Amino acid sequence: MTPISHTYNNTDTGTEELNHVEMICTIVHQLTRNLTVEQIKEQGFADYYVDHTTGLWPQAASGMPFSASTFQSTGDPIADLTEDLAAEQKARITYDNILRLVKDDPDVYDAIKFLRAREIVHFQRFGEGLRLVQDRLDSRNFYAFNPAFDKCANNNCKNNCGRNGRCQR
Ligand SMILES: [Fe+2]
Repeated sequence: MTPISHTYNNTDTGTEELNHVEMICTIVHQLTRNLTVEQIKEQGFADYYVDHTTGLWPQAASGMPFSASTFQSTGDPIADLTEDLAAEQKARITYDNILRLVKDDPDVYDAIKFLRAREIVHFQRFGEGLRLVQDRLDSRNFYAFNPAFDKCANNNCKNNCGRNGRCQR
């Protein structure tokens, strides 16, 4: 039997997300590379310019720098896939907000619209993954244990029966 931790492994989405970072960085670079100091001041980039000139440095629109703490990995597929689903929706919302701001720039608009569409697909794939994991759980209460780590949900089982969620004793 395939371990539950191997039931769903969506590396394609992760690879695509790295490509999205590359696309966003390219857009920002193209929009900022020829700015004058006056334009930088007018457009509210002065603080950023002091630290980074027009170099690319990943941060939220609020100025919060990117770090690995932006996302989480618990090792529990249900927890992680649920967080993945939320992350995709948050990305889609961010793109929705950007689209409202860049209506007058078709080059940026079309690229962001493409990225938004991919987030919707990612949400659907993670949803399928969550359903696959849950379908494999042989338990009525699959929220009560980590299916990737806890082999048996029976606290009294001394046999390490190896079944995810249902004791074979
Ligand atoms: Fe995504």
